[in-house]
Amino acid sequence: MKIVETAGEMQEYSESLRRKGRRIAFVPTMGYLHPGHLRLLEEGKKRGDCSVLSIYVNPTQFGPQEDLDKYPRDFDRDEKCAAGVGCDIIFYPSSAQMYPEHYQTYITVEEVSNNLCGLSRPGHFRGVATVCAKLFNIVKPHAAIFGKKDFQQLTVIRRMVKDLNMDLEIVGIPTVREADGLAMSSRNTYLKDYERESALSLCKSLKLAAGLYDKGEQHTAVIIERVETFIRTHSHTAIDYVSICDTTTMKDIGEIEGEAVLALAVRVGATRLIDNHVFGEPIDW
Ligand code: PAJ
Repeated sequence: MKIVETAGEMQEYSESLRRKGRRIAFVPTMGYLHPGHLRLLEEGKKRGDCSVLSIYVNPTQFGPQEDLDKYPRDFDRDEKCAAGVGCDIIFYPSSAQMYPEHYQTYITVEEVSNNLCGLSRPGHFRGVATVCAKLFNIVKPHAAIFGKKDFQQLTVIRRMVKDLNMDLEIVGIPTVREADGLAMSSRNTYLKDYERESALSLCKSLKLAAGLYDKGEQHTAVIIERVETFIRTHSHTAIDYVSICDTTTMKDIGEIEGEAVLALAVRVGATRLIDNHVFGEPIDW
């Protein structure tokens, strides 16, 4: 497995692979890898003949009050995990590489960024879109693999790729969960043991909502009310949002007619967790 630390070297290497007719599959991450990330890499192995993983904790997607400094990092462990699933290249740039002095170009994906996490984390998706556009230009992938766990992020990236005619395929992968249903996240390491039961209220409430929908409930206000009440019965929880949105526009809807997603963000103690469910899709937890 090759480790590349500069944008220039990565571009040259990707170019040489492309000239040889190789297909590049790319998984962007902020590291501290867990089985969810590894699932994306495995999908990458299927969709390309050279898999590139990036590890970069991107400062422009963190707000001033957020956990940039304490975001978990362990490159040695990540390297072993990536090698274990047959990753070919890790792109591991510094901030001097990604945002050199005088840097001033940002991408704003407008409407789909303006709800949910976009409201509670102003500027977050501008940072995500910008770093992904840069990574796509550096890694030059044929396909990039993202998790549906960050559903709005996936929608923002799909929109950007379409709007800017970027020449790559975006692949979305179902959320990988712990045995008890908790969506895997690098931030789960912040959870205290006594907060675990409350953290499970997110995935349990998705199941509750799916049950209501399956029985014919289409009024989003009814489903949202039940979900919020359920989450509030758990200690240490503070709801950031519970929304039901159209999956293309990410705008709130009143009735579930076309494809709709229930998206949640809940603080459990000091940890902000997100989860979601697209109505009609199977629930396997
Ligand atoms: P990060 O949180 O490290 O996640 C990297 C990728 O892994 C994202 O596509 C995310 O949706 C996916 N992922 C995380 N948990 C998952 C799970 N339980 N199941 C399936 N996929 C999961 O998302 C980011 O980093 C950053 O915003 C990034 C896109 C790298 C830009 O900085």
